[in-house]
Amino acid sequence: MSKVVSIINLKGGVGKTTITVALAEFLVIKHHLKVLVIDLDPQTNSTVSLIGEEEWEKKNKASETLYHLFKDHIDDTCQFELENSVVKNCSNLSGGLTNLHLIPSSLDFVGIQDRLINIGQTALIRPIDVLKNAVQSYIQNYDIVLIDCPPNLGLVTQNGLNISDHYIIPTIPDHLSTYGIPQIISSVKSFNRKTGTHVTPLGIIASMYRSSVTRHNSTLRKLTSQAAAGELPRIFDTRIPLASKAADATHYEADSVNTLKQKYGWAGSNIYDAFTNLTEEFLRHVELPRTKSTQTTC
Ligand SMILES: Nc1ncnc2c1ncn2[C@@H]1O[C@H](COP(=O)(O)OP(=O)(O)OP(=O)(O)O)[C@@H](O)[C@H]1O
Ligand SMILES: [Mg+2]
Repeated sequence: MSKVVSIINLKGGVGKTTITVALAEFLVIKHHLKVLVIDLDPQTNSTVSLIGEEEWEKKNKASETLYHLFKDHIDDTCQFELENSVVKNCSNLSGGLTNLHLIPSSLDFVGIQDRLINIGQTALIRPIDVLKNAVQSYIQNYDIVLIDCPPNLGLVTQNGLNISDHYIIPTIPDHLSTYGIPQIISSVKSFNRKTGTHVTPLGIIASMYRSSVTRHNSTLRKLTSQAAAGELPRIFDTRIPLASKAADATHYEADSVNTLKQKYGWAGSNIYDAFTNLTEEFLRHVELPRTKSTQTTC
């Protein structure tokens, strides 16, 4: 049984993609898990981070992206083939990781959200069921599925939530970035009520944290006390620091790195340790079946 987790926030640029890609790579390499990333964001950032632009262009030309799945339902065409679209051996680590797979997005996805509402008028499927209909049985091949969502809770994100067990909210710990969090939580509750799903929050992850910034610390204190009062889900103990290594990690350069330590910094570097700890904390909260190994290697 796979566990499916959507990475969401109404706010853009808060680290959703960076955390998705790092979690995927750490789960595969350090914990020997089989991971699928579903890139639901028209910006195509996790796709380009995991396979590079050249490979993405090939997939796009071959109609092997999620854009083509949604387009088929809107335009009544038949281009998308799931098995062909999944990219195996993703990441620029060690020339590709056998157990890290991706269903890519496309820049052509931009604008499709407005047209998704029309699906129900022509097909026997609700707009929120397009992804579920295509991938529901296939995703059972994985231990963890991570869904990188666009920065909104529109129909595309709802397609992700519709197949999710949990969601996580990365946020920069400042006033504007955290402002929409209560809205996200109530929107997901309302989504659950309307659709009969049971998507629960795994927690909030502080991203691009700077310990020297007073407002980061005061915002985290406030979030923590709201979580203790039951007003917010848990705040992950691990904070992802602001670090150039984290930003660099999303730049795909084929065969350029062999180990997580080369990509994220050596043990003892703040970003490598943060992603190591985040992955362990993630696994404690996500509760995989007992038989699954969570033994670590470097
Ligand atoms: N811990 C970090 N330290 C430094 N830079 C970071 C860190 N995390 C992310 N970044 C950089 O911040 C920018 C936004 O990050 P990212 O793309 O992961 O956010 P996002 O929430 O996915 O954005 P969007 O909503 O546009 O999809 C990127 O340029 C990324 O390289
Ligand atoms: Mg993103």
